[in-house]
Amino acid sequence: MSDAPMKGDSPEKAAEALRAGQLVILPTETVYGLAADASKPEAVAKIFEAKGRPRFNPLIAHVADLVSAESIAVFDERARALAKAFWPGPLTIVAPVRDSGQVCDLARAGLDSVAIRVPAHEKARAVISAFGGAVVAPSANRSGRPSPTTFADALEETGTSTGAAVDGGSCREGVESTVVSVLGDQIALLRPGTITREQIEAVVGPLAASAEEGHRSPGRLTLHYAPDAPVRINATNVKDGEILLGFGEGVGDPRWSLSTVGDLREAAANLFRLLREADRTKPSGIAVSTIPATGLGEAINDRLSRAAGFVG
Ligand code: TXA
Ligand code: MG
Repeated sequence: MSDAPMKGDSPEKAAEALRAGQLVILPTETVYGLAADASKPEAVAKIFEAKGRPRFNPLIAHVADLVSAESIAVFDERARALAKAFWPGPLTIVAPVRDSGQVCDLARAGLDSVAIRVPAHEKARAVISAFGGAVVAPSANRSGRPSPTTFADALEETGTSTGAAVDGGSCREGVESTVVSVLGDQIALLRPGTITREQIEAVVGPLAASAEEGHRSPGRLTLHYAPDAPVRINATNVKDGEILLGFGEGVGDPRWSLSTVGDLREAAANLFRLLREADRTKPSGIAVSTIPATGLGEAINDRLSRAAGFVG
């Protein structure tokens, strides 16, 4: 590899790499993904290796449209309604697997369900359509670390393991997709995201009271999304050597603010980038102001409490 600044590869080059069983840095509207051909166990195994990801943690299959999704999984009326309301976009639907050849056992961690989403990012869509099949892509971070939301961060995390890397700029949403399971009687929210609980309930009615009542997500490790510095949440002061990530007007240094105007959308988009940038200054800790718990705040607080090491 040369020392020249890495320029992104084209979607066609990425599709070629996928066909050759290699990994690809894939931009999406949520976070950068580390992608492989979902049907090839040898390729999928490289993802688990590059990330240091436990093999019991299944991956999300990314496809072009609802028709492709329904060729892989069994969608009932509720799953279809959610797909129609939110795809393409940051919603992942877990449903019973129909064709285990398209998304191999290793990618599903041996489960008889499969997680699927149709990403909205133009470059992600271009890669998937040039490739022509399902692509599994976890966030491109090494396991347990904050997800990358810029091309440079994605390269730094897992760039050396890939055959191609596509530059899609900064990720618009900034946190990973909302994950819902549509398996039993009750739909369960397995991971909050920028599509909120309220938005989902407006389409399919009340969700299960907790994920336990529905279906557990094997990937919700306690210490997750964590920078090297300890993270302290709901901070109302700053201790010596700490950096404060503020929220709202006049809270801390505006350079380190998640949103100086108290906008949750902006805070979500800035979250992982600021955690990484703060971490690079090697502070004694990263303190984060209280973030409202409603709407999109549920996803932000979920990531923050995991970064701080609390049980989810
Ligand atoms: O926004 C996103 O979803 C990003 C981008 C790249 O698309 N991807 C992502 O993937 O966040 P990952 O692997 O970091 O998270 C996948 C989550 C994990 O919590 C995993 O346990 C859960 O989805 N999951 C996957 N398949 C599942 C299944 N069959 N049942 C329950 N949970 C599942
Ligand atoms: Mg992840």
